[in-house]
Amino acid sequence: MSKTRVLTGITTTGTPHLGNYVGAIRPAIEASHDHNVLPFYFLADYHALIKCQDPERVRQSTLEIAATWLALGLDTENAVFYRQSDIPEIAELAWLLGCVTAKGLMNRAHAYKAAVQANEESGESDPDKGVTMGLFNYPILMAADILLFNAHKVPVGKDQIQHIEMARDIGGRFNHIYGEHFTLPEAVVGEETAILAGLDGRKMSKSYDNTIPLFLPEKQFRKLIMKIKTNSLEPGVPKDPDTCTLFSIYRAFATKEEVADVRRRYEDGIAWGEMKQFLFEYLNDHLTAARERYDALLQSPDKIEEALQDGARKAREFSAPFVKQLRASVGIRGLAG
Ligand code: TRP
Repeated sequence: MSKTRVLTGITTTGTPHLGNYVGAIRPAIEASHDHNVLPFYFLADYHALIKCQDPERVRQSTLEIAATWLALGLDTENAVFYRQSDIPEIAELAWLLGCVTAKGLMNRAHAYKAAVQANEESGESDPDKGVTMGLFNYPILMAADILLFNAHKVPVGKDQIQHIEMARDIGGRFNHIYGEHFTLPEAVVGEETAILAGLDGRKMSKSYDNTIPLFLPEKQFRKLIMKIKTNSLEPGVPKDPDTCTLFSIYRAFATKEEVADVRRRYEDGIAWGEMKQFLFEYLNDHLTAARERYDALLQSPDKIEEALQDGARKAREFSAPFVKQLRASVGIRGLAG
């Protein structure tokens, strides 16, 4: 195991959108072809249960996310692609880690603190109202995901940095008590330029309900592009590309020359309708082949399941012996001999 191990999880509560693609999926798929790294990519379905108690949605999201990654050409020979819940060692390790984690550390987690703050602000007498143990323990489960594979690098969004720091804390604590078992991971945060604007101009995010799903059928895809908010400048009036959502999306896909060319068209006062149609055609060309593979995969979920089972088998080649070693280190082992 001398390659750099890169690990990241995708919570299975939504449908992949253009922002996910540009910020996380595309770089991860590119890295999957790099044989100097050993990528672990997984569907965080246990994490999904913290936010979502709609079983059909969790299942559908798992299917869509897996199909998306496979359709976009994830190299499953090099990368280990699996579903969190298929690796029983993750939940097992979460318990071992929970037993060395200070409750006070979890009190400081952003997601938990935000929930408490919302209760306080609404005059609720119980600050923990609506807080499940799943939410409270979220960082421990995430630490287990990461430490189980001794990941060196964890690509995440900014909002997740604290969780990686907590994984380091928890792993360090375990190492201190039971010996050096864990590699302490480092967060790798994507560039700002990889953040896409959504329909309303704010960051494209499920929580703002302003996303453009990646593999929407062509007609609906065009409709959404047409809905992107612009200012009200008339055709022929020079426009500022750098504050324009259409341009921000285009730039995330186009080559440097293409971007420079469209910049000039903004200066020349391109009409919004024309730019929208141009963006639609450009993205559609870019996505059509993958969309066809995606649709085909959704028609044969058994293929997706097979890929995930393969991935789980590979993942467990690491995780099963490792957890056995960890159990022994804490004093849980057979009594004979
Ligand atoms: N919590 C992460 C998110 O919401 C998803 C996730 C779960 C994850 N386990 C992980 C990311 C381990 C990186 C490593 O984005």
